[in-house]
Amino acid sequence: MNKNIIIGIIAVIIIIAVSIGAIFIVNSNNSKDNNNTSQNGLNTENENNNKTNVVENEDNTIDISEENKPEISSTGKILVAYFSLPETTGTAKEDSTVTVNGENLGNTQYVANLIQEHTGADVFRIEAVKQYNISDHQALIDDAKEEQNNDARPEIKSKISNFEDYDTIFIGYPIWWSDLPQILYTFLESYDFTGKNVYLFSTNGGSGLAGTVSTITNKLNTANVNSNAFKLYRNNMEDAPEEVETWLKQIDIID
Ligand SMILES: Cc1cc2nc3c(=O)[nH]c(=O)nc-3n(C[C@H](O)[C@H](O)[C@H](O)COP(=O)(O)O)c2cc1C
Repeated sequence: MNKNIIIGIIAVIIIIAVSIGAIFIVNSNNSKDNNNTSQNGLNTENENNNKTNVVENEDNTIDISEENKPEISSTGKILVAYFSLPETTGTAKEDSTVTVNGENLGNTQYVANLIQEHTGADVFRIEAVKQYNISDHQALIDDAKEEQNNDARPEIKSKISNFEDYDTIFIGYPIWWSDLPQILYTFLESYDFTGKNVYLFSTNGGSGLAGTVSTITNKLNTANVNSNAFKLYRNNMEDAPEEVETWLKQIDIID
């Protein structure tokens, strides 16, 4: 074969080889870029995901300094449900009110508000359809006794439609006739507490918790009812802020 032809063939082979090499390098760079892009994409996606979570967290986080108390919504995970009747009989002994910013709160209501401020929880006030007489102590006492004798289930005004959203539920009540007010039985029987973490808080006129922790624990036997219940004697309401904070720390709700 002519020497020139051989040189030509070698030159063509070299050119082809160089071309293939160049194409390979370009491709591999592209592919690296793609990988980077896809990794960045993943990261971005993760970041986006994280951002989404953050946004969701921001949604979930309820600023406790907000003036408007959070309403029950599908975003909350902690619920404070309580019954309280601020008695306004005009006699200091029988009144069960704490005045905060000019508003008369029931003793248990005051504790509920303090728990809410620490936790950002949603709050549900258990209100009866019937009207309790809050300006006549004796009438209220007699009514409550009759309800207890009849094992009554006073009807509650409204129902929590998204109860399943809450995994931590604080339940608050005053002691009535050494027991739960009957409307608490209505409340406990209205929802499925299976798997819920339940914390109890109560105010009283001297009876302490009066066995109500066992009563609720037995009733909600598919829930985790914490045995460390909060109790406060009605004459010591000024201690509530400190006592509530101490309790919430004890039960690991706040640091
Ligand atoms: C109908 C009725 C029955 C009560 N029975 C008891 C009782 O048996 N033992 C007790 O320690 N306090 C009793 N109390 C006092 C309340 O538990 C106490 O005043 C409580 O702090 C009221 O809370 P509230 O303001 O959130 O409704 C009774 C109060 C009422 C209105």
